[in-house]
Amino acid sequence: MNGNMIPGTAGQIAALFGLQAEPLYGKEGASVYDALARHDPSEIRDVLRLARGPVLELACGSGRLTVPLAARGHEVVALDNSAELLGMLADRLPAGADVQLVEGDMTAFELGRAFGLVVLGTSSVCLLDASQRADLFACVRRHLDGLFYVSVVDFAEPLLLRQAERSTVVVHEQSVITLLQHFDGRRGVRTTSLVQGHNALYTSEVHLVSSAQLAEELVAAGFRILERRRGPDSEQVQVQLICGRDDD
Ligand SMILES: C[S@@+](CC[C@H](N)C(=O)[O-])C[C@H]1O[C@@H](n2cnc3c(N)ncnc32)[C@H](O)[C@@H]1O
Repeated sequence: MNGNMIPGTAGQIAALFGLQAEPLYGKEGASVYDALARHDPSEIRDVLRLARGPVLELACGSGRLTVPLAARGHEVVALDNSAELLGMLADRLPAGADVQLVEGDMTAFELGRAFGLVVLGTSSVCLLDASQRADLFACVRRHLDGLFYVSVVDFAEPLLLRQAERSTVVVHEQSVITLLQHFDGRRGVRTTSLVQGHNALYTSEVHLVSSAQLAEELVAAGFRILERRRGPDSEQVQVQLICGRDDD
């Protein structure tokens, strides 16, 4: 992505320092993403509570959820399309872990077996557009013999009606990382940018999909919503949908 195509403050920083935006989960961005994300404890307890039989984790990244599953002795197939993040996960697996890493696309995979739990955490479903989500759900349904756990974030209306921005600054090792979230309600997208000092810019764009919309899509794709868990009220609320196949 060209620096001047990035919206909001991140775009201005890119223009100011002549930065090219690199993909957040790509070669260079992956280690910065990992540094910020790897100690986030959210969803770990929820996923461990649901784990039964072999687990398929989609968009596993560097293993924030995979490693605790493996440490509890679960057999896990962990799929992601970032070779860099999978490489980090491989280095972090506990000795003797029953984990198979698959470099693949969560919208088009065929593993030839079924899983007691399929996990898609960290609201990663929003990385996909509506037609890609339909492809993902068809793949998940084919591989499901149990529960499908998927998380999403519901945003408060002011973030969805017009352009808005939220920023967080983190000091990591020897550098300052600014996390900028730019919301464009009209286009229905949120651009996440990580600016490292004034040397590097990494971005990712996600679709603003509400939990209600996601639930509708899941039902249309042949799932039954068994449980809907909502985090505490705030401007950004995590919602977890736990689903089964509608013919189970
Ligand atoms: C928000 S990160 C979540 C990673 C991990 N679950 C965590 O909690 O740290 C999103 C992940 O989705 C992966 N990803 C994006 N598009 C994908 C696709 N089409 N198929 C598989 N993985 C994908 C990225 O490489 C990245 O690891």
